[in-house]
Amino acid sequence: MKMDERTERVVEMYSKYPFPLAASKHVETFFHKYVVPALRQLQKEGGIRRVLEAGCGTGHMTTQMAECLPDAEITAVDITEGSLELAKKLADERGLKNLTFKRSNLMEFDSSLGKFDFIYSQGVIHHLSEPSAGMHNLNRYLKAGGYAFIWLYALLGRTRVLEMREALKILGVDRLAWEKKMEMALAARPLFLSKPLTLPRKLIKVLEYVDENGFKGLVPYLYGYLRKAPGGVNSTVYREVHTADYILHPQDKYYRVGEAMDLFEKSGFELVSILQGMSNSIEEAFGTDNKLMAGRKFSQREAYTLIELHEQPEGIGYFVRKTREQA
Ligand SMILES: C[S@@+](CC[C@H](N)C(=O)[O-])C[C@H]1O[C@@H](n2cnc3c(N)ncnc32)[C@H](O)[C@@H]1O
Repeated sequence: MKMDERTERVVEMYSKYPFPLAASKHVETFFHKYVVPALRQLQKEGGIRRVLEAGCGTGHMTTQMAECLPDAEITAVDITEGSLELAKKLADERGLKNLTFKRSNLMEFDSSLGKFDFIYSQGVIHHLSEPSAGMHNLNRYLKAGGYAFIWLYALLGRTRVLEMREALKILGVDRLAWEKKMEMALAARPLFLSKPLTLPRKLIKVLEYVDENGFKGLVPYLYGYLRKAPGGVNSTVYREVHTADYILHPQDKYYRVGEAMDLFEKSGFELVSILQGMSNSIEEAFGTDNKLMAGRKFSQREAYTLIELHEQPEGIGYFVRKTREQA
């Protein structure tokens, strides 16, 4: 498969640490809470027959999507062979028939994929050596007026990661082989990034979860946090996969909201709304009677930027619509 040097390093990393592991919290709650309501609305408006998942990884979101849209035909692509193998295995275990997996590089247009009614891409575009080439191709895979969900890293909530990377660079991480990189990152993490959780911080985490999700899923969430068994978030394998993706990634870009909007506009999309990661309106973020905001008119870009500066998100799920055809 044709790929540039930076993409080869991305594939090398995901071949060693395929993402995600089944136990991660976002797989269980993310799709149903944030994406399904939008999909239901689109289904009402005109139906969703063909869906592309761009960068499916090990297929945990893909299988949820296939179960949730039994009448749709889902095509899931990824560049990492090992992740696709795990994804296929998962789909077989769940007996899903409305799913096709294909190895594909999002930066190389693949005409055999055809056109889609909806595109789902979570945590992928920011790992491309040329994100605009990837978005350009997503435009070409989407039918006219079609919608896409694109989840991107957000800069303001991730400055701690950049600081940790600076520390690792000084410590010499770049010159090491993967096993040694991992050893160093795991040892450095508590010093520069995640301070060990004190009891009040643990309580805050639980309250944050309940605030965001209610009580549904709380027990598996706590179990994931507490257990040391394989797959739990304290297990070695989970910590390594997470550390590779979060801290040691050879290629990622953290976006400000305005930059993400530029990327979408340049690739023939418009931002419709924000589905996850931060509030979608000034009222939601600041309340209806905030003295600085009430009665003021802001452009979409200004409003989202104010919200971003206030909430400092780590990642944002953008809901976008295709506005023009890319050649
Ligand atoms: C962080 S994982 C996200 C997986 C999945 N979407 C999720 O959120 O669980 C990023 C995925 O993007 C894939 N990827 C990276 N560069 C790619 C490219 N150029 N074309 C297709 N997939 C790519 C990687 O192989 C990896 O599986």
